[in-house]
Amino acid sequence: MSMATVGIIGTGMFVPSNVLTNADVQQYVDTTDEWIRTRTGILERRIAAPDEATSDLAVVAAQRAMEQAGVGAADIDCIIVATMTPDMMCPSTACLVQARIGAHRAAAFDLSAACSGFVYALAMASQCIATGMYRHVLVIGAEVLSRVTDYTDRNTCILFGDGAGAVVLGPTDAGRGFRAFSLGADGHGAPLLRGGCVGGSRYPSEQHLPEGMTRCIWQNGKEVFKFAVRTLEQQTIAVLAKAGLTIADLDMLVPHQANVRIIDAAVEKLRLDPQKVFVNIASYGNMSAATIPIALAEAQSLGRLRAGHTVVLVGFGGGLTWGAAALVW
Ligand code: UT7
Repeated sequence: MSMATVGIIGTGMFVPSNVLTNADVQQYVDTTDEWIRTRTGILERRIAAPDEATSDLAVVAAQRAMEQAGVGAADIDCIIVATMTPDMMCPSTACLVQARIGAHRAAAFDLSAACSGFVYALAMASQCIATGMYRHVLVIGAEVLSRVTDYTDRNTCILFGDGAGAVVLGPTDAGRGFRAFSLGADGHGAPLLRGGCVGGSRYPSEQHLPEGMTRCIWQNGKEVFKFAVRTLEQQTIAVLAKAGLTIADLDMLVPHQANVRIIDAAVEKLRLDPQKVFVNIASYGNMSAATIPIALAEAQSLGRLRAGHTVVLVGFGGGLTWGAAALVW
């Protein structure tokens, strides 16, 4: 089976109902709606209820994607959950989802590549289908970042939100589906962005943390910003080139949504028509691995993705990591 016959056959998303507006954030930290809007493009984010965990969001998004794909739980061969905020270290969030949706035949595991995780997971899943190992793989990006956000730090608490997006990958008609992937990492950039630092083998509990370090998300915003603009531009070109295409062939770019200024700067460098870029950061903020699948599900339900469209997905984030996929919708 060639790569071109594996594609996305269903999308779904779920976000918690609780909305945190910029006016709400002003109650916690010294900031303004004007600053947040103009510096990030974010107007509001969704925040999980205290009893809602990542698997709870993932299950609903997955069920919606399966319904759209017309694929039942018994037909799912594998579940991959990309997340940096799993319910717990073990069992994996994917196993919790597997039990809840009744996908009893499915292998299940989590994948850790921060904001690039969903695209990494697509690459792994599509190879499993292309080689004939599996037929249907459920790929989910899900996060409850509010659990690792410091709501006294104005540099970070304005940015993050909670949500889940899912897709079902399966065989598609010839001429549609994935054309190329481009994945990468630079572990030397690890100190630039971290989160969820407690509970691993380095810092098993809060009291093991070095002075000045917290369990919450921390980043060198300026450095990550420059990396993000560079990566978004370069990876879009790189994955199109791998697919034998150029920017002129692109119908829809679905980038990771970390800051609207990152997207605008990269789109300008690419000389891409802004109409061909999907942006929904205003409503959700940055949801790490959940951002791209939620954007895809929204773009599809809004009729922005049509059969035959050439689409590029690009993620970038902690690790540092990056990943891009080129596909024909
Ligand atoms: O998905 C993972 C990848 N993450 C990213 O891609 C994030 C990339 N970085 C960014 O999006 C931006 O760097 C931020 C949004 C995090 C920050 O925006 P910035 O334009 O780079 O601001 P800055 O950090 O350079 O700060 C400028 C000023 C500072 O004041 P001084 O030191 O110049 O007096 C900050 O203290 O803005 C201040 N500031 C704020 N003011 C009001 C920082 N955060 C806020 C705030 N409200 N929330």
